Amino acid sequence: MKLQMKRYLSFFVVVSSVCLPWAVQAQDSAPIKANPEAARDKISMCIGCHGLPGYKASFPEVYHVPMIAGQGAAYIEAALKEYASGARTFPTMQAIALSLSEQDMADIAAYYAGNKP
Ligand code: HEC
Repeated sequence: MKLQMKRYLSFFVVVSSVCLPWAVQAQDSAPIKANPEAARDKISMCIGCHGLPGYKASFPEVYHVPMIAGQGAAYIEAALKEYASGARTFPTMQAIALSLSEQDMADIAAYYAGNKP
């Protein structure tokens, strides 16, 4: 009887230690709220290409860099997701998009769309 009780208790400990982190994570995945203020730290790597006069970059060859400032947030976010998923292919943008979290994408999209926080 005593042993059974111990087993029951340890079962409970295992279950709760598995479920607790899950519950915390579930909270994390609540709907993403875009915060254009937070994007300021995240766009330093975009400026190198998307902030060039004439919007051209020269590596690995000269190519046109589209202007993203002022485009719709939904458009920018969708474009980043497409690069990340491979639906759109452009090597540098794909590498960059893959390094961004969904929160980063939402923040950056809101920032470039000119949304005020
Ligand atoms: C190495 C240069 C480079 C960097 C750095 C870069 N981009 Fe780009 N980006 C490009 C090029 C070139 C394209 C056009 C690619 C194509 O033709 O699909 C592009 C396309 C895009 C598009 C799609 C625009 C459209 O009109 O469809 C978005 C959105 C975008 N970039 C966002 C970003 C963001 C946000 C960052 C920073 C996190 C970033 N880019 C960093 C070069 C760059």
